[in-house]
Amino acid sequence: MDLTTNYLGMELAHPIIPGASPQTADLDLVKRLEDQGAPAIVMHSLFEEQIVSEQMRTYAAMEYTSESSGEALSYLPEPDQFSMGPDQYLDQIRRIKESVGMKVIGSLNGTTRGGWLEYAQLIAQAGADALELNIYDPVTTSLEDSNTIEARAVGIVREVKSALPIPVTVKLAPYYTSLAHFATQLVNAGVDGLVLFNRLYQPDIDLDELEMIRVSPVGLGDLPMRMRWLGVLHDRVSCSLAASGGIGSALDAVKVLMAGADVAQMVSALLIKGPTLLSQVRGDLSQWLETNEYHSLDELRGSMSMTHCPDPSAYHRANYMRTLLSWRS
Ligand SMILES: Cc1cc2nc3c(=O)[nH]c(=O)nc-3n(C[C@H](O)[C@H](O)[C@H](O)COP(=O)(O)O)c2cc1C
Repeated sequence: MDLTTNYLGMELAHPIIPGASPQTADLDLVKRLEDQGAPAIVMHSLFEEQIVSEQMRTYAAMEYTSESSGEALSYLPEPDQFSMGPDQYLDQIRRIKESVGMKVIGSLNGTTRGGWLEYAQLIAQAGADALELNIYDPVTTSLEDSNTIEARAVGIVREVKSALPIPVTVKLAPYYTSLAHFATQLVNAGVDGLVLFNRLYQPDIDLDELEMIRVSPVGLGDLPMRMRWLGVLHDRVSCSLAASGGIGSALDAVKVLMAGADVAQMVSALLIKGPTLLSQVRGDLSQWLETNEYHSLDELRGSMSMTHCPDPSAYHRANYMRTLLSWRS
């Protein structure tokens, strides 16, 4: 079965790729993922806060005593909380590119316009084949309206896109009042792809210690939310689409591809089961297509999107009402 896939203008042997995670901090692991057939890999993110922190520390070391700058710097994450600093991140891209043949997608993660965006160019110069821009912003202020926040995100994208010779994709959060409209604005700003979605981690409350606690980032879930929006955007925007979140098997991959994804990114499942899962999912996908008499991946892709599925109302408010009314005691 021919599983060849075009993602962000790159020809990939198949559509199953490891998404952004700390796996790319370990070169041996990256090689093992390639041995299992990964045609591309997304780097873990280089964060705006990390870059700004480094820049401020350099500036503070040159201009101030440690006492005078200590308070301002204490708000920023400590450098050792990240697996590698900005320069090491660029070195890691170079090292990965020298060691494997698969496509390498850099990941830059932040929310404001500023000097840190120069790293987009440095990531491209280090050899990344594409850039995934993660603009997740859990806005808590009541002083900015959604238009302002979305315009800032579009501005970031436009700035990065105009400076880069490589394709740019944006990893989105699911919660926009009008996601299809925002996605269209991003496409108009020049993005080559969208990744649906970031997994959002909500803090929990430790009732014994009365502290806010972090949940584990590893875990599958919310696949239907991805499928729904892939199905909507497949028919509305002309760019590559990646699914991220909840994909642990070939059947999960079939669903997001049917909804309209070009590629299925896997993270938690690979972290739990190891790199061999990748070749297993690729093999199972091929087998499933043959058993179900598909001739190509293109025949399957988008076949259950909003306008192609037998019941488009499943994507609309009608589905919400029917679901509620379907309950019987
Ligand atoms: C340990 C861990 C680290 C992650 N690091 C990043 C990151 O650096 N940048 C990013 O955009 N997403 C990161 N993610 C999110 C994943 O790329 C992915 O979007 C999310 O885990 C949902 O996919 P999954 O259900 O396959 O895990 C991370 C996820 C995990 C579990």
